[in-house]
Amino acid sequence: MEESLIWTEGATKIYNPRLPDEMVALDKASITIRQGQVTVLKGPSGSGKTSLLSIIGCMSRPTAGRVVVKGKDVAKLPERFLTGIRRNTFGFIFQQFNLIREVSVQENVALPFYPMKTGFTEIRERVDRMLDQFGILAKKNLKVKKLSGGEQQRVAIARALINDPEIIIADEPTAHLDQALAEDLVKILDGFRREGRTIVIATHDPFIFESNFVDRTISMRNGQIERVSER
Ligand SMILES: Nc1ncnc2c1ncn2[C@@H]1O[C@H](COP(=O)(O)OP(=O)(O)O)[C@@H](O)[C@H]1O
Ligand SMILES: [Mg+2]
Repeated sequence: MEESLIWTEGATKIYNPRLPDEMVALDKASITIRQGQVTVLKGPSGSGKTSLLSIIGCMSRPTAGRVVVKGKDVAKLPERFLTGIRRNTFGFIFQQFNLIREVSVQENVALPFYPMKTGFTEIRERVDRMLDQFGILAKKNLKVKKLSGGEQQRVAIARALINDPEIIIADEPTAHLDQALAEDLVKILDGFRREGRTIVIATHDPFIFESNFVDRTISMRNGQIERVSER
């Protein structure tokens, strides 16, 4: 399992345990994510994709099972360690972009640095470079709500990359995009792959899971891993 950047063994996530509305969202899922590959988690809505992504992205802890990220068992680590791993290892692209509409583009992109430890000027320069790369530097002082959908998408991706993450996690990234923007997004993700980054995408969009840049597809159903296929 050495080449696995992330692996889980029997990862289980139960929401509201022992309550009437108990929900087993993830049921003994064992998967591996390989370094430098694009892995897609595919499955109908409610199949546990987001729950699995949150666990491997150290955003939440499993109820049971093991989750190993870069050789470290993170399943039982205290929150402050998880925060560190999240910041240093992962970039997240969410379905709704999770941008703060009332604040500026530049502040949204700098968000992963709060509370700021790195020098302020250095952060500003980094943010500028990133915005320039995505062709939205001229909009840096505008509030996000003033931007078009495509521009917001670029801000969200810029924010996901500002920490130069080794692993990019995207949850239904095309859910609110038209075809042209979805194609742009796949091109951008393909660029990350060429840089040797590892990408994990949860999606039920055939446009993504039928793309050539996908290396492995993990199919989920009812919180379980149904099948793994390799290209
Ligand atoms: N915070 C939560 N509390 C209770 N149930 C949840 C929570 N998050 C997700 N679920 C439930 O867990 C199941 C799996 O959800 P999720 O992981 O979001 O699946 P997917 O991303 O494939 O749609 C669903 O039935 C969902 O309603
Ligand atoms: Mg989901």
